[in-house]
Amino acid sequence: MIETRNLSKVYGKKDSTMQAVRDINLKLEQTKTIAIIGKSGSGKSTLLHLIGGLDRPTSGEVIILGRNLTQLSKREMDDYRSQDLGFVFQSFFVEPNQTCYQNVALPLEINRVPVAQRRQKIEEALKQVDLLDKIKSKAVTLSGGEKQRLAIARAIVSNPKIILADEPTGNLDSATGDKVINLLFDLHRKHGTALVIVTHDQDIAKRCDIRVMIKDGSVEKIEGVIKE
Ligand SMILES: Nc1ncnc2c1ncn2[C@@H]1O[C@H](COP(=O)(O)OP(=O)(O)OP(=O)(O)O)[C@@H](O)[C@H]1O
Ligand SMILES: [Mg+2]
Repeated sequence: MIETRNLSKVYGKKDSTMQAVRDINLKLEQTKTIAIIGKSGSGKSTLLHLIGGLDRPTSGEVIILGRNLTQLSKREMDDYRSQDLGFVFQSFFVEPNQTCYQNVALPLEINRVPVAQRRQKIEEALKQVDLLDKIKSKAVTLSGGEKQRLAIARAIVSNPKIILADEPTGNLDSATGDKVINLLFDLHRKHGTALVIVTHDQDIAKRCDIRVMIKDGSVEKIEGVIKE
């Protein structure tokens, strides 16, 4: 279950504050595909960052896979992020001067996976995104779509339970974007990986089981099946 309770985030101090997330209560089955939609500036990325433990709420709670994120120590939070989550961002965030191998190896290093077990996992992840032939190439030499697929390989290499994707196709042409999205939905189908996708794309939103519409930091509407 992906749950938020009275979740709020206020940026800034004193006279220049901005409430990016307002009192959001969600209870979403973690086996599902979930789209978060809403206008620019409505608080989608902030919400995703709070769920991913990349940012701490001002008030309220996030409870995921039975763990209350607000109660985790820094170490426990790092473990949660590296073991249970995969992140895919619009602007890729791959290390340009590292090879594809090194980029995908990063989560395994963080999770202290023994070196001898790494290569097979890395090759498997790169194969899934059709980049095995680029294993020795530096990320800087890849096209935009290839970088995004590399980011996905890195996100999936540790078999996360949930993938959090912020506009994963935002920088891609529609054909490449379709490939990337199909890849994420394939992962969901084959491995049951939950997907939480922030998107402006109505077609992607329609493919998801649940659509959460955000307006001015609040949940405006939820569409789709939600089970207790
Ligand atoms: N670090 C920050 N400091 C101050 N304000 C911030 C910060 N991050 C986001 N905001 C503000 O919070 C609001 C929500 O931002 P957020 O990035 O969550 O929007 P979004 O829905 O993801 O928008 P977009 O679709 O453009 O990516 C915006 O008004 C933004 O300016
Ligand atoms: Mg955003």
